[in-house]
Amino acid sequence: MASASNRGVIFQGAGKVTVETIDFPKLALGERRCDHGVILKILTTNICGSDQHMVRGRTTAPQGLVLGHEITGQVIECGRDVEFISVGDVVSVPFNIACGRCRNCKEGKTGICLNVNPSRPGAAYGYVDMGGWVGGQAEYVMVPYADFNLLKFPDREQAMEKITDLTLLSDIFPTGFHGCVTAGVGPGSIVYIAGAGPVGLAAAASARLLGAACVIVGDMIPERLRQAKSFGCEAIDLRQDASLPEMVAEITGSPEVDAFVDCVGFEAHGCGHDHGHEKPATVLNSAMDLTRAGGQIGIPGLYVTEDPGAEDKAAQTGSLSLRFGLGWAKSHSFHTGQCPVMRYNRALMQAILFDRVDIAKAVNVELITLDDAPRGYADFDGGAAKKFVIDPHGSVAA
Ligand SMILES: NC(=O)c1ccc[n+]([C@@H]2O[C@H](COP(=O)([O-])OP(=O)(O)OC[C@H]3O[C@@H](n4cnc5c(N)ncnc54)[C@H](O)[C@@H]3O)[C@@H](O)[C@H]2O)c1
Ligand SMILES: [Zn+2]
Ligand SMILES: [Zn+2]
Repeated sequence: MASASNRGVIFQGAGKVTVETIDFPKLALGERRCDHGVILKILTTNICGSDQHMVRGRTTAPQGLVLGHEITGQVIECGRDVEFISVGDVVSVPFNIACGRCRNCKEGKTGICLNVNPSRPGAAYGYVDMGGWVGGQAEYVMVPYADFNLLKFPDREQAMEKITDLTLLSDIFPTGFHGCVTAGVGPGSIVYIAGAGPVGLAAAASARLLGAACVIVGDMIPERLRQAKSFGCEAIDLRQDASLPEMVAEITGSPEVDAFVDCVGFEAHGCGHDHGHEKPATVLNSAMDLTRAGGQIGIPGLYVTEDPGAEDKAAQTGSLSLRFGLGWAKSHSFHTGQCPVMRYNRALMQAILFDRVDIAKAVNVELITLDDAPRGYADFDGGAAKKFVIDPHGSVAA
C-alpha cells in the first residue's frame, strides 16, 4: 500500500487551484498517530462554497493546501484500533472531524470538538485553521476516529445507484437541514432562505421536507433562482430596488417570515442599488428586519475572524455593523457555527434511500473528473447553478 500513488486538488494562491501528485495517506497526522483511523479510496468528493472563500483569497489559507472536506468513499485499510468499520464498507464522512471523547462531542456538538485542532475548537479536512488534516479532493484520504465519524451505507450497490444524492450527506444536505431546524422550521412555516447556492438550495429542499408552507429563496443570480423554482420554491431577485419585506409581502401577503436561514455568509453582496458591492452584514440585518418577533434565525453561512480581502477595516477582523438592538427587541434567536453533520446524516440518508427527497436534483449535481476540478472551481465561482461532484477514480461514471 505504501507505494500507491495519490493525486489531489491544491490551493496555489488566490484564484488558482491545480491537480498534483500528493502523498499517499498514512494513519498519522505529523507526529500524531491515528490508529483509530482508516484509509479511504474516494468515490465522490464535492466542491463547496466554503472552499471558494479560500480560493478567492478571502482567508489566510496557505499555498499548497490539499483542498476538500466533502468526502464519500470505500474503506481500503483500517487502523489497529478500529473496531466496527471494515475494509470494503462504503461510507459518508462528516466534514467535521470529531474525537468522540471530549465534552463537546459527548454533547453531540461535533463541529466544535476540543481534541482535533490545537488552535481552536473544531476541525475539518483540507481547510484553513481547521487542524491541518489533509483534504479529500483526491484519490485517497485518511479519516481519523473512524468508528465515531463514519456513516456506513447499508448496501454498496444501492449506495452506488444513489451516490449523487448520498454524496451530499458529507456537508450541504445536513448543513441546509440544520439551518432550517435551528431557524425553527416545521409544518406550515413561512421560510426565507438567503442565498441560492448549493447550501441555500439544500436548505430550501430541507424546509420542504420539514413541512414548510412556503419557501422563499433570495439571490441575485437568475440561473440559481430558476433552480430554486424548479422544485417548488418562490424566488426573489434581489437586484430589484424594493425592500425585502415588501417583496415577501407580494408573495405571502405579509411582510414577515417565521424562519430565516442565512446561506450566504461574510461575502454577502448588497441588494437593489447596492448590488455589486460587498456588504458583509447585510444578510444578518435583513434577517432581523424580516423575521417575526419571536422567530428564529439559522446562520450556516460562514463568518470569519480574519478576512484579509474585506473592503472595510473592521470587517478585516470579522467585526460587522449589526443593528443588534432590533433583533433583541424582537426576541430573536440566532444559531451560528459549523453544522454538526453527524446529528442528521443517518436520518437524511434514510430519506434519500426511501425516496423522500431528490436532493441531487434540487442542487443540480454535475459529476466531473479530478482533472476537471479547476474548471469546476471556475464555473462555480462564476455563479453556475450547479453542485460540482468530483469522481476521482471514474467509479461513478463506470
Ligand atoms: N455552517 C456550515 O457548516 C457550513 C457548511 C457548508 C457551507 N457553509 C457556508 O454556507 C455558505 C453558502 O455556501 P454555498 O456553497 O451555497 O456558497 P455559494 O457561494 O455558492 O452561495 C452563496 C450565494 O449567496 C448569494 N448572495 C450574495 N449576497 C447575497 C444576499 N445579500 N442575499 C442573498 N443571496 C446573496 C450569491 O449570489 C450566491 O449564489 C458559505 O458561506 C459556506 O462557507 C457553511
Ligand atoms: Zn462544504
Ligand atoms: Zn471531540
